[in-house]
Amino acid sequence: MKLTINGTEYSLEADIRTSLLDILRDHLALTGTKKGCDHGQCGACTVLVNGRRINSCLTLAVMHEGDEITTIEGLGKPGDLHPMQESFLSHDGFQCGYCTPGQIVSAVGMLDEVEKGWPSHVTQDVANGASLSDAEISERMSGNLCRCSAYPNIVDAIRAVGA
Ligand code: FES
Repeated sequence: MKLTINGTEYSLEADIRTSLLDILRDHLALTGTKKGCDHGQCGACTVLVNGRRINSCLTLAVMHEGDEITTIEGLGKPGDLHPMQESFLSHDGFQCGYCTPGQIVSAVGMLDEVEKGWPSHVTQDVANGASLSDAEISERMSGNLCRCSAYPNIVDAIRAVGA
């Protein structure tokens, strides 16, 4: 299969039943994307596919030929971090750090969804200059669990970037 990940095209051979998460971690050594539950409950494996958030443990890699896949490695790198990565650092938006890549990727995707006006009632709110409330940020990030419960700082970090 051929996959485009963080702007690089990879050609690889793998069992067609391999999840995107296992391709990233076990075949391409892109281990920033984490495996927590491996069945769609924790969000640690969140990546962006054509800009939308998905749980990479729940989808087969072969289904994503031709898609643009973005992992945490594609957002920034040491010395040139994404604003969301900087904000998680400055707001202590993590404790053990295991869920952090998924939280950050999800937060970036979530703000993009808001900017694009999805769902439509947010379009109206944003058009009227409203910001997301803490409860709305929490709701929109509810697919990403943090076992250390760093949620207040995660919300602060996201709000600082632009929610
Ligand atoms: Fe995919 Fe938990 S590892 S949702």
